[in-house]
Amino acid sequence: MNMRTYWDHVYTSRSVQEVSWYQPHAEQSLALIKRIAAGRPSRVIDVGGGASTLVDDLLEQESFDVSVLDLSAAVLSVARNRLGAQACRVQWLAGDITQLELPAQAYDLWHDRAVFHFLTKPAQRAAYVAQVCHAVRPGGHVIVATFASDGPTRCSGLPVLRYSPDKLHDEFGGAFELIESMEETHRTPGGVIQPFVYCHCVMHEDGQDCAAGVAAQSHNAASLYAAIDVLTGNNNEAYYPALGARSTSCACSDAIGGQEILPVCAWQAHTSLDSATSMRPKSAIFSRTS
Ligand SMILES: C[S@@+](CC[C@H](N)C(=O)[O-])C[C@H]1O[C@@H](n2cnc3c(N)ncnc32)[C@H](O)[C@@H]1O
Repeated sequence: MNMRTYWDHVYTSRSVQEVSWYQPHAEQSLALIKRIAAGRPSRVIDVGGGASTLVDDLLEQESFDVSVLDLSAAVLSVARNRLGAQACRVQWLAGDITQLELPAQAYDLWHDRAVFHFLTKPAQRAAYVAQVCHAVRPGGHVIVATFASDGPTRCSGLPVLRYSPDKLHDEFGGAFELIESMEETHRTPGGVIQPFVYCHCVMHEDGQDCAAGVAAQSHNAASLYAAIDVLTGNNNEAYYPALGARSTSCACSDAIGGQEILPVCAWQAHTSLDSATSMRPKSAIFSRTS
C-alpha cells in the first residue's frame, strides 16, 4: 500500500475525532501563529493539516490567507465539507510535501504538526527542508511540531523520529534561527499522554539557498539530489551542461549563505548522479559559485 492510500484508509476507517492526534482546537499552534503574525496580512500553509480545525480558527481572521496541504485527498474533503461556504477561501493542496511543486516564496508562515516526524529517511527530510527553503519567503516563519524526545516511537501504525528542540533545529541547518521552542502534553482521545515539542524558526534572508547546503552537509548524495530537485523545480535541463563543465573544484560557500561545504561532498554527489543518469547532475548551487 502506498502512503497516500495508507492515509486515505486511516481517514476513511474511523472518524477524525477518533485519531490519536485529534485536538478540538490546535490551541498552541493558533496562539503561536497569531502572536507571530501580530495582525499583519500573512500567507499561512498548514502542511499535513489533515482534518485539523486550525484552518477554521485561522479563517476567523481576515488577515490570514490559508493553504492546507495533505497527502490524503480524503481528509481534505472532510475539512472542506466541514467548512462549507468558507472552504473557498482556502487553497487545498493534495500531495506529498517532499515531492509537490509549491510556488516559490509563497508563504510567510509554515506550520506542521505531526508530519515531519514521519520522515525517517535522510533524503525525505532533506527534500522537506528544501521545500521549506523554496516555498517560504526569506525572513518567513517556520513552526514544526513533532513528538518530543520522550514521546512515542510510532504514530498511526508508522515509525516516527523523536526530537529535542536542538535536534529538530539541526535538521533545518544554519539558514534557520531557532527563536523559541515549547512543549505540549497531548492527550489522545483514548487518554494516552503524548509529549510534543514545537519549534519556531525564522528563515534567514538568504535561506533560498539553504536547501542544497543542508543536503550537501549531510554527505548524502540522495539527499542532495532530492533537495536540488525541489530547489530548482525538477527542471534542470539548463544547468546540466554548465555543471558538466565545472565538476570537482566548485566552492559552494556562496550558495549556502556563507557556510562552508566541503568540495568533496559536492564531488561525491556529482559523480554518483553522473554515473547513474549520465548528464543529470544539476545544481543551482554549482552554477552560482564562480
Ligand atoms: C498525525 S496527522 C496530523 C494532522 C494534523 N497536522 C493535526 O495535527 O491534526 C499527519 C498528517 O500528515 C499527512 N501526511 C503524512 N505524510 C505526508 C506527506 N509526506 N506529505 C503531506 N502530508 C503528509 C497525513 O495524511 C496526515 O493527515
